[in-house]
Amino acid sequence: MKHLIDPTDLTRQETEEIIDLALDIIANRDKYSESCKGKKLATLFYEPSTRTRLSFTAAMMELGGNVLGFSDAQNTSVSKGETCADTTKVINCFADIIAMRHFEEGAALVSALNSRIPVINAGDGSHAHPTQTLTDLLTIKREIGRFDNLTIGFCGDLKFGRTVHSLIKALSRYSGVKVVLIAPEQLRLPDYMKKEVCEVNGIPYKEVSTLEEVMPELDVLYMTRVQKERFFDEDEFDRVKDCFILDAEKLRAAKPEMRILHPLPRVNEISVDVDADPRAAYFRQVENGKFVRMALILTLLRWAGRDDKQNRLIPADAVRNQHVCRNPRCISNMEVNVDSIFRPAADHPGEWRCVYCESKSK
Ligand code: CP
Repeated sequence: MKHLIDPTDLTRQETEEIIDLALDIIANRDKYSESCKGKKLATLFYEPSTRTRLSFTAAMMELGGNVLGFSDAQNTSVSKGETCADTTKVINCFADIIAMRHFEEGAALVSALNSRIPVINAGDGSHAHPTQTLTDLLTIKREIGRFDNLTIGFCGDLKFGRTVHSLIKALSRYSGVKVVLIAPEQLRLPDYMKKEVCEVNGIPYKEVSTLEEVMPELDVLYMTRVQKERFFDEDEFDRVKDCFILDAEKLRAAKPEMRILHPLPRVNEISVDVDADPRAAYFRQVENGKFVRMALILTLLRWAGRDDKQNRLIPADAVRNQHVCRNPRCISNMEVNVDSIFRPAADHPGEWRCVYCESKSK
C-alpha cells in the first residue's frame, strides 16, 4: 500500500501518471463521476484550511464517493488527549482513505505508520505539503507545458513554507531547473533543503534580497505568505511580514510568459492590481488542486491492495530511540508513545536527521 507523506514518496513516473490522470479528468469529467462510488474519504484537519479541505471534499464528491471528518479537532476526542496514532486506528474502522492536516510536524507519518488504509499528508506544520506540490505541478504543466529547464523564484517565507520545501523536492528530479531564493535573512530556506535537496541533486540555487534583481530571468514566480502562526515571537513577525510585495509595477520587468503561483491564502504579498494580469495563475491553481486530488484519490485507492515493498516509510538505516529531535514542533516531542526515529544525514556524515521533520538531533 502506498501513502503520500512526502512528495518523494511518489517516483517521478508515478507523479507524472497522476498529473496525466488529472488532465484526463479535466477533459472527461463524466467518465469519472462514479469512480469512487461506495468509498469514503476521511478529512482529519487539526489546523485551519480552506482550499485543501474543501478541494478534497469536492474531489471525492465529483468521484461519486462520500466524505466524513472534522475541521476542528477541539470538537473531537483529541481535546480529551487522544493521540494521532489512536485517532488513525479509529478512523480506519470508518473510511477507505485519510487526508490529514496537522500542526505537528511528522503527524501524517505517525498516522501512516498506524494505518491499514492510505494516508495523505495535507500539510504537517512547516514541514511538507505534497498535495499542494501536485497542484503546483499540474499548474506548471497546464500553464507552461514543461518541468525541465525552468528558472523558478521562491519569494517570502522559505523557512516555514512547507509548500516551498515540497515543490523544490519535486522539481529537483528534473534537468535544467534553477532555483532563486528571495527571502529576508530570518526566513531563508533551511540548510537541509539547500544541502540535501539542491546540492545533492545538482540543482543550482542563489539567494537574493530583492525581487527586482531577478524578475526578468524567472519562468515561474512562486509567492508565499509570511505565516504569523509559525512565529513564536510577534515582534519578529512584525519585522518581516511586509518584506516582499508584488505589484503591477514590479511585474513590468517580467517575461510575458512568466507565471505567478501562490498556494494561497494571500494577505498582502500580492497586490490585487496583479490579479487581472494573465500571468497571475494563482486562482487557476486552486481549481487544479481539485482535479489533481481526484487523480490522487483514485490512484491511491487503486494501489491500496498492492504489496508495495518500494514504499518504505522508515529508511532501512534508521535508528530508534537513540536521539532526541531539536524541533519543539516535531510530533516526537509533542505526543506520547512516539518513538524517536533518526536516519543518517546525507549532507553531514556522522550527523542524524529526524524522519518525522528532518531536523537534526539535539
Ligand atoms: N494552499 C493551502 O494549503 O491552502 P489552505 O490552507 O486554505 O488549505
